[in-house]
Amino acid sequence: MTQPDWYSAGREHVWLPYTQMKTVRPPLPVVSAQGMRLRLADGRELLDGISSWWATVHGYRHPHIEEAVRRQLESLPHVMLGGLAHEQAYVLAKRLADLLPGDLDHVFFSDSGSVAVEVAMKMAAQYWLNQGQRRVKFLCFRGGYHGDTFATMSVCDPDEGMHSMFKGALLEQVVVDLPRDAGEEAALGELIERHRGELAGIIVEPLVQGAGGMVFHDPFTLQALRRLADAHDLLLIFDEIFVGLGRLGDAMFACEVAGVQPDIVTLSKALTGGTLPLAATIASRRIYEHFLSDDAMTALMHGPTYMGNALGCAAANASLDLFAQEPRLAQARAIGAQLESHLAPARNLPGVRDVRIRGAIGVIQLDCPAPADRLSAACIARGVWLRPFRDILYTTPPLIAGEDDIAHIAGAMVASVQEWSRERRG
Ligand SMILES: Cc1ncc(COP(=O)(O)O)c(C=O)c1O
Repeated sequence: MTQPDWYSAGREHVWLPYTQMKTVRPPLPVVSAQGMRLRLADGRELLDGISSWWATVHGYRHPHIEEAVRRQLESLPHVMLGGLAHEQAYVLAKRLADLLPGDLDHVFFSDSGSVAVEVAMKMAAQYWLNQGQRRVKFLCFRGGYHGDTFATMSVCDPDEGMHSMFKGALLEQVVVDLPRDAGEEAALGELIERHRGELAGIIVEPLVQGAGGMVFHDPFTLQALRRLADAHDLLLIFDEIFVGLGRLGDAMFACEVAGVQPDIVTLSKALTGGTLPLAATIASRRIYEHFLSDDAMTALMHGPTYMGNALGCAAANASLDLFAQEPRLAQARAIGAQLESHLAPARNLPGVRDVRIRGAIGVIQLDCPAPADRLSAACIARGVWLRPFRDILYTTPPLIAGEDDIAHIAGAMVASVQEWSRERRG
């Protein structure tokens, strides 16, 4: 098959994410995208079942977002936020503060999810440093994932995650299982007590641990973490980079679903509807106020060059318009119901350990790690783009997906697993 010139010329030079470059199956050149669909250079079309890593919630090329970005490009694509201000960032900060519960009112912009989490960790540690306390460690959870930079790697699952070879080189955190009942909450309280004076806070992906294995937990867990944080004077950080902004269907944010107000929230991915890189770390008033003083050194010493990029903020404001004007949450709930029925046949397949659905997230967990390339190729052959990992084949479709799309995606998942399990049995 002939490939585009840019692909042939550049493929020796692009170092791909999470990829063994020696054995990698060549990536698929994409030339355009529209709605749910990716168009490949060879003319094939694929339904995007994972929204480009959970970001394109309104589908590709939504005209409202495109128009907002185009207008912004004509007036001010970017300007530094150090000492200068622009409308899109200020409007977006106010809108996020209004949307998030309680007094989560102070928005620090950055350019990727990992950096938003870095900022949250730095903010929490400095909150204590500003009060003369050296509390720089975090309580975090097995199965968690918060990014690939050095500080964020330290709060990921140390064994199951992708970063186990860095053990010893990372900040040492207190890693535990999520508390799922009153007994586990009490036991965790005792463990926290043993780390008194060391811990700055607790960091968790609320309701769904995503890249660590697509594992769900109940609001109880988050309520327990809030109680523990209050009882032991710790800050509570919700990393909503995966689940925030509609993915769960019940509300815009997981913290609302759980009825828990964290002290710091991180957002990215769906923030711009998957059009431009942008992230935000949002702090409550109490956190913010501990950075205010007559001493310049108590300020938050952070400032990514592209923070609050005007194009990104324009895209995010347009994306929030769409959440307000179109029934995205109802669509996410409908996708969940459709996934329940269309993934149900997988429950009885040999080799399937579990099928689970939460909001617009559908997961088939296998009984052993499967060759991701093999499963992915089987889905592509059926016209669907998915990116399985370990023992997990999952879909997080754009929230605009219709029932036909969901039936197609889920059908490809079920058929691919069936094919794999047949091959495995010989
Ligand atoms: C919960 C969570 N936090 C942080 C990140 C890191 O975001 P980014 O890949 O934009 O650095 C991710 C990415 O998958 C995520 O799912």
